[in-house]
Amino acid sequence: MTNTQTWGNVPAAWKRRHLLGLEELDANEIMLLLDQAERFRTVLTQGDRKIPLLAGKTCVNLFFENSTRTKTSFALAARRLGADVIDFSASTSSLSKGETIIDTVKNIEAMQVDAVIVRHSCPGSAKLLSENIRVHVLNAGDGPHEHPTQALLDIMTIRRRFGKIAGLTVALVGDIAHSRTARSNIWGLKSLGAHVILCGPSTLVSKLWENTGVEISYSLDKILDRVDVFNLLRIQFERQVVRPFPSTREYAHLYGMDVVRLAKAKPTVLIIAPGPINRGLEVTPDVADGPQSAILDQVTNGVAVRMAALWMCLNKISEPPPTTMLELPSKMT
Ligand code: CP
Repeated sequence: MTNTQTWGNVPAAWKRRHLLGLEELDANEIMLLLDQAERFRTVLTQGDRKIPLLAGKTCVNLFFENSTRTKTSFALAARRLGADVIDFSASTSSLSKGETIIDTVKNIEAMQVDAVIVRHSCPGSAKLLSENIRVHVLNAGDGPHEHPTQALLDIMTIRRRFGKIAGLTVALVGDIAHSRTARSNIWGLKSLGAHVILCGPSTLVSKLWENTGVEISYSLDKILDRVDVFNLLRIQFERQVVRPFPSTREYAHLYGMDVVRLAKAKPTVLIIAPGPINRGLEVTPDVADGPQSAILDQVTNGVAVRMAALWMCLNKISEPPPTTMLELPSKMT
């Protein structure tokens, strides 16, 4: 077990109790998280994987949507830091009896936990909770809005490969319209100086994004040779009200990454994908499992990123909790 004293304190420049999204973070804050994640990654990959910086703390995984990577790696990250982890099961909870999410979380908070890690289909749900409870809130995906730790691990993976973010051209390909990963990547990558291209069918890539300074392309073939990183987003059938393209076959033909397209890309090109991937749709198996792919490295980096986010947020106690929660009944004062 690593001596906790060697880790020092959370950098004074980090002021946040919650991690809600990358849109609200500046470049310096993102770099603090990435640098800390690098320190934790070194330990994770060296065998001595326990750093009890959060010993005595309790984190609750509140997942109202399915997850493999995010839920497991947040749990692992918290445990690597010595925290206890409680898994909340939405499907067997009293939500089915009509309890609201705020009441649910306030009751969990009353059990004296320290942090909730929340994934919910409603955009803004993590922010709503942060405004109504005292404990730390980490957004594990709020509908199609933001998925900050996913973008951080994507950016970490890119930075590990290229040693930098500024000046790189990163293409987010596919279902931009429904992707919280895309949104968080856009804010994070732009903040760090990357050129971002959003590529996909016009039904999934709104021209309005140009107002944020990103480039739009409706042709993957036209951008192949000038992109450093392709982030291949999953087609999120579960969020689509109407099918945005005639067939999956047509989508794969126009936007799927395969070895023929890869051969036209830069020799140094990096392939990443947030997962889960639809093999044969966004990416063919030979590309997903090939040498240009860092898809599983992303998953490793995700544990380190989530350790950084948990440690940095849970050690920020200076900012006062919401005042409504601090007021005691007069008879108790
Ligand atoms: N990338 C991602 O969020 O995966 P999960 O849905 O499995 O957590």
